[in-house]
Amino acid sequence: MKAVVTGGTGFIGSHIVDLLHQSEYEVAVIDIQPPGAYWEVPAGVMVEKMDVATPECEEFIASYHPDVVFHLAARASVTDSIHNPHEDARTTIDGMLRVLEGARKGKTKKVVFSSTAAVYGNPSVAIPISESTTADPISPYGASKLAAEYYLRVYRDLYQVDYSILRYANVYGPRQGISGEGGVIAIFSKAAIEGRTLRLFGDGGHTRDYIYVRDVARANLLAAEKTGSFVLNISTGSETSNRELIEYIQEVAGHTLEVSQEAERPGDIRRSALAPGSALYGIGFRADTAIRAGLEETYRWMKDWVAHV
Ligand SMILES: NC(=O)c1ccc[n+]([C@@H]2O[C@H](COP(=O)([O-])OP(=O)(O)OC[C@H]3O[C@@H](n4cnc5c(N)ncnc54)[C@H](O)[C@@H]3O)[C@@H](O)[C@H]2O)c1
Repeated sequence: MKAVVTGGTGFIGSHIVDLLHQSEYEVAVIDIQPPGAYWEVPAGVMVEKMDVATPECEEFIASYHPDVVFHLAARASVTDSIHNPHEDARTTIDGMLRVLEGARKGKTKKVVFSSTAAVYGNPSVAIPISESTTADPISPYGASKLAAEYYLRVYRDLYQVDYSILRYANVYGPRQGISGEGGVIAIFSKAAIEGRTLRLFGDGGHTRDYIYVRDVARANLLAAEKTGSFVLNISTGSETSNRELIEYIQEVAGHTLEVSQEAERPGDIRRSALAPGSALYGIGFRADTAIRAGLEETYRWMKDWVAHV
């Protein structure tokens, strides 16, 4: 099987590439950034430094003839999308069209798309949020991801390119940078390792549904190998508060951490979790890394990385 991974040198993409390589896929990566020093690209994986929203990307996919494209390239940040909505839309919407045109011409069977909980906005429904909840984004990032989801549906109907839309909760784990969506575990871990004060916005009661990156990579493979087109949350369904995260990091670090409590950030959703049941039913996926275990691995990786740079 041949696969293209856009955004494949990034945090989640690099874990998908590792898993594809272990599963004996032939893999090509498209990314605007070269691989970071924290990741050794597996032997035989081709890395093309390319902007996803360009004709070169479309042509590359068309001529490579992948069976599946894992499409992750994005400016993965809500805040960035508010400051640079044009760039966000160019990367996510034009990028999706380049991927889809390449897939159509290259006779690709499926596109697996990394979407986000941000498409739901801030719905007034019970938590955890299911896939049947009306999408109602409140940021340019959520809006462009939702638009890209619609293009997938259109290309399935017009050209029979199947899709798997995966709406991730907050992904964490080794290789995550300290900016971007859901980076709080990386930010807290790095501050704890460097002996800095942790900045806590609000009373510590804000919750998120944290899912470990290797579980997300596994979900991508399962979604690619399942026939048909579908939309699934990729999540645990459980909420962890910032206060709990700090307690866990203290346990892993083995010492008390200094925390400065600051004003709540405007627009910060109080609670967030996505219902995981459809992924279990649809592709047999269940996230099986407990937050405490995943956090320990992330902390250990961050400690090695901080010592290395
Ligand atoms: N991390 C999360 O918690 C989370 C949650 C929901 C959805 N997602 C989605 O998952 C995907 C991967 O996110 P991540 O956390 O690994 O972020 P990341 O920033 O580590 O990875 C994104 C990659 O896309 C690349 N990229 C950006 N613009 C590009 C362009 N124009 N052309 C080619 N490559 C480009 C970047 O260089 C980077 O390697 C994104 O689509 C993101 O929106 C992430």
